[in-house]
Amino acid sequence: MDRLFIFDTTLRDGEQVPGCQLNTVEKIQVAKALEQLGVDVIEAGFPISSPGDFNSVVEISKAVTWPTICALTRGVQKDIEVAAEALQYAKRKRIHTGIGTSDYHIRYKFNSNQEEILERAVAAVKYAKSFVEDVEFYCEDAGRTDNVYLARVVEAVIKAGATVVNIPDTTGYCLPHVYGEKIKFLMENVKGVHNAILSTHCHNDLGMATANTMAGVLNGARQVEVTINGIGERAGNTSLEEVAMILKCHKDLHIDTQINTHKIYSTSRLVSNLMNMPVQPNKAIVGRNAFAHSSGIHQDGVLKNRESYEIMDPTDVGIDKNSIVLTARSGRAALKHRLSVLGVNVDGEKLDALYQEFLKLADRKKDINDDDVLMLVGKERSSKDRIRLEYLQVSSGVGLRPVASLGVKIAGELFEAAATGNGPVDAAINALKKIINRKMTLQEFTIQAINRGSDDVGKVHMQVEHEGVVYYGFGANTDIIAASVEAYINAINQFVK
Ligand code: KIV
Ligand code: ZN
Repeated sequence: MDRLFIFDTTLRDGEQVPGCQLNTVEKIQVAKALEQLGVDVIEAGFPISSPGDFNSVVEISKAVTWPTICALTRGVQKDIEVAAEALQYAKRKRIHTGIGTSDYHIRYKFNSNQEEILERAVAAVKYAKSFVEDVEFYCEDAGRTDNVYLARVVEAVIKAGATVVNIPDTTGYCLPHVYGEKIKFLMENVKGVHNAILSTHCHNDLGMATANTMAGVLNGARQVEVTINGIGERAGNTSLEEVAMILKCHKDLHIDTQINTHKIYSTSRLVSNLMNMPVQPNKAIVGRNAFAHSSGIHQDGVLKNRESYEIMDPTDVGIDKNSIVLTARSGRAALKHRLSVLGVNVDGEKLDALYQEFLKLADRKKDINDDDVLMLVGKERSSKDRIRLEYLQVSSGVGLRPVASLGVKIAGELFEAAATGNGPVDAAINALKKIINRKMTLQEFTIQAINRGSDDVGKVHMQVEHEGVVYYGFGANTDIIAASVEAYINAINQFVK
C-alpha cells in the first residue's frame, strides 16, 4: 500500500468563508477532532492576517500532539517570521508559503515577470527554512500555470529545500484529465521531484474538486489538501470524507490513508454545527440522504442484500442508527459522554451551563439527538453577546393581523417594543427594528428542520446588510419565530459593538 498524506485546511481555507468564523476554543475542538480522525497535517490559520488567527495557531499547537501544525504565509518575510513565532509550541511544525505562478497572477497581481517570481519563490523557501525544517510551497493558480514554467518553479523550490510542493487549482477550472496530466508532467520533468511530495489543492467551482484530486493522486501526488464537508472559498474545497472513502472502497488502487473513517460522521456534524454551515442533504458520504433508500426497488434490493445498492456500510463512516438519544431524564454524565463521542470535551462550569440549556431544550423536545447537542454547544458562543432576546410574544392566525411584542437586553438594560407585520416573523423583526434603530436589510433567510417530528429544533440562517457589509446570523430554537429573531440579533451583534 502507498501512503497518502491528508492535509486538512478546514481551519484555514474553510474558516475563511463568511459566516464560518470560529473562536479559538471552537477551533481547538475542531483540531482535536481532526487529530482523532487521523489527519496528518492541520493547517491552523494564516497568522499574519489577524491577532485571532495568530492566537489560534498558538493554542492549536499546544492542544494537539500528533498532526503537523501548518501556518500559511504569503512569500513575504514578515509573514514567515510571524508564522514561525505562532508555531513555536507545535511538536511538529510546517510553514506553508508561496506565490502566484500563473500569468494572471504574475502580470496583474504582482505586475512582475516569470524570472522575478521564480527568485521570490526561492527566497521565500530559503527564508522559511531558516525557521523550520518542514516547508511547503504553493504555486497559487497552478491550475492555470503553463506546465513548463510550473516545472521550473517546482524544481527551484525543491532545490531550495521545500519538502512539499502544493499545486493548487485555485479557481477550480481544471478538467480532471488536465490536472492529472499536470501532476504527471511534474513527476516526469522536475529534477529532484522525489526529494519532495507533490500536493493537490483543488477548489470545487465546477464541481470537479474531488475528481481532480483523485486524478492528481493517480498520477503521483502523495498529499491531498481537503476540508471537512468540502467547505471552503466560494464552492469549497475537495472534501476529506470523499477522498478517504474513495480509497477505502477502491482497495485496488493500493493507496492508503491514516483516516479512522468511523470518526467521519461525528467530525462532519461537529464542523457543520460549530460553523453554522448546513450539509446539503444529498452530499456524498455525510449528507442526510447519503444512505437513505427511498424508492421501493432500492429498498427491496437492500433488504435482500445490502450490497445490491450500497457500496459502503454506513457504520464505516460512523453513522450509528442505534446511537443513544438523550431525554429530560438523562444526567450530566450522559450529556458529557455524548459530547465527548462527538469530539467536544467539556467539564466543570461549562458542562453545568450546557446541562441547564440541555434541560430547557428537553422540556420542549422529547428526544435530543446529536445535532441538538452540538447546536447547544454552538449556541454558547452568543451567550456573551451585547444584545440578547429576553422575551417574545406573538399572536397570529387566519384572519388576524400578526402582532409581536418583544424585549431585548442591550448591555444589561431592557428595551421593549411591539409591532405588526405581514406574518409573525415580519412582526417580530419590525418590533426589533424599533429598538435597534439602524439601517439594515434582510438579504437571505433560510429555515431548516434537521430531523423528523414537529417538535424539532428549527435552525435559521440569515444575511443582514448594514452599510454595504453583509453579516451572517444564526439562531436555533424549537420556536422558529424565536429562532428567526435570534438569528437577526446574532447578525446585529456583529456590527453593534
Ligand atoms: O487555493 C489556493 O490557491 C490556496 C493557496 C493559498 C494554497 O488556498
Ligand atoms: Zn484554496
